[in-house]
Amino acid sequence: MKLTLKIWRQNNTQTKGELKTYQVDNITDDMSFLEMIDVLNEGLVQKNEGPVAFDHDCREGICGMCSMVINGKPHGPSDAVTTCQLHMREFKDGDTIFIEPFRANAFPVLKDLVVDRGAFDRIQQAGGFVSVNTSGNTIDANAIPVPKENADMAFDAATCIGCGACVAACKNSSAMLFVSAKVSQFALLPQGAPERKERVLKMVEQMDKEGFGACTNTGACAAECPKEISLENIARLNREYLSASFSSK
Ligand code: SF4
Ligand code: FES
Repeated sequence: MKLTLKIWRQNNTQTKGELKTYQVDNITDDMSFLEMIDVLNEGLVQKNEGPVAFDHDCREGICGMCSMVINGKPHGPSDAVTTCQLHMREFKDGDTIFIEPFRANAFPVLKDLVVDRGAFDRIQQAGGFVSVNTSGNTIDANAIPVPKENADMAFDAATCIGCGACVAACKNSSAMLFVSAKVSQFALLPQGAPERKERVLKMVEQMDKEGFGACTNTGACAAECPKEISLENIARLNREYLSASFSSK
């Protein structure tokens, strides 16, 4: 397959970026999207041109690093997959593909397709640790009954990989889906109860400090989330926040 790529190139946070056009050839259906960029980069290096910088680590949908917008959609055209799991069979010979970084004030572009998602780390750090003993002298897990429904919802929330596609998809650059998943995975379990109020208040405070926008319930975040994190988590976050705000005063 032969493709035309329009890729965002930007040297650093301070400089302006622009879309540049590249041609790639010999792309096969079974290549992943990142392998296609590897092919492009090998060609660029051979021509003594700078390779396109992009984030990646696991290449199997776990780490959340492979953030990019492909033809206007975070993680590309397929539902519920990360960019590293997207295969070139989703495209056809002769296609033109637009590839850009995640766009949000809270995610400054570091270089080309690489953005700084440190804001997510700071939100999680603001949430703090759980005080229950989870290593060494632990009590038997079966001694703390957890309703199956709650366990399933907590597990689903914990599948959030912190990729940031929800922010990139939202017209307000809201981080509510991410924060709601991180709050929900603890709020639904007894192990998360001791710090429950403090955690939600601090995480939301940090989210606001980082400059993410407000949620206006468009649902674009959940539609683009590769882990299909449910909007129900945002409703839970709002309940948790209101309850903690009233009862902590
Ligand atoms: S909620 Fe979904 S889109 Fe947002 S960071 Fe988590 S996995 Fe990525
Ligand atoms: S490279 Fe880890 S999720 Fe894509």
